[in-house]
Amino acid sequence: MTRDKDRQMKAIILYDSRSRGGATDRLIDSIGQQLAEYGAYVEKARCKATADYSFLRDFDVVIMGAPVYYMVVSSQLLGALLQSNLKRYLKNKNIALFLTCGSPVAMAQSVYLPQLKIHLMRNRILSEKIIAPHQIDDEEVIEDFVEEIVDGYRKSFKSRGGDLQWSDEALELLDSAPPFFSDKIRAALISYAEENGIRYITPEVLDEARASPRGY
Ligand SMILES: Cc1cc2nc3c(=O)[nH]c(=O)nc-3n(C[C@H](O)[C@H](O)[C@H](O)COP(=O)(O)O)c2cc1C
Repeated sequence: MTRDKDRQMKAIILYDSRSRGGATDRLIDSIGQQLAEYGAYVEKARCKATADYSFLRDFDVVIMGAPVYYMVVSSQLLGALLQSNLKRYLKNKNIALFLTCGSPVAMAQSVYLPQLKIHLMRNRILSEKIIAPHQIDDEEVIEDFVEEIVDGYRKSFKSRGGDLQWSDEALELLDSAPPFFSDKIRAALISYAEENGIRYITPEVLDEARASPRGY
């Protein structure tokens, strides 16, 4: 019932681009390669506006990004956020965001990044980077992004109730309760887990806590 806090990070790069073999393809190859050098398991998936994103359940970190065309983030990624179940499966995930575009960073941060961020709910953003086409092959820029992702992921183990980790199913159960109750249940579960040496909370832990003599 425990999960090693230094276990292999599972990351998915969810991206979109109108082109094949262009800046975005080169960028995600480079991100994937560098993450793998840190020992991460990495997969890549090109977005489709109407795809089923339930496979995100299997990943700890979602690295999401695309180019900007005519001032709008590439359409299949935006479309997926609007039309598919992507938003639902992104909930509570560790996220890293990137954009490839020709505009200055300040403009990209204020006009383009919000087009993605407006859809995020209860996410920890490990890193966000605007990468200009001329920086795609700059290893230092990519290294910086990847290091922030890896560091942020490691820190995420320490922030919620010590070493506690939550399964997606346990988080979904918590989210389905009204906020007042979900906060109380969360606090009670943290106490129960700490008292019983549990580091990974699943729906079964919730049942055990309820059935325990202290009746959490
Ligand atoms: C048709 C077109 C429109 C673009 N419009 C914008 C834009 O509005 N703002 C911007 O910052 N960059 C814009 N760019 C630059 C691209 O975002 C940038 O070159 C990106 O790296 C392209 O990625 P790709 O090679 O994967 O297609 C545009 C590029 C193209 C080809």
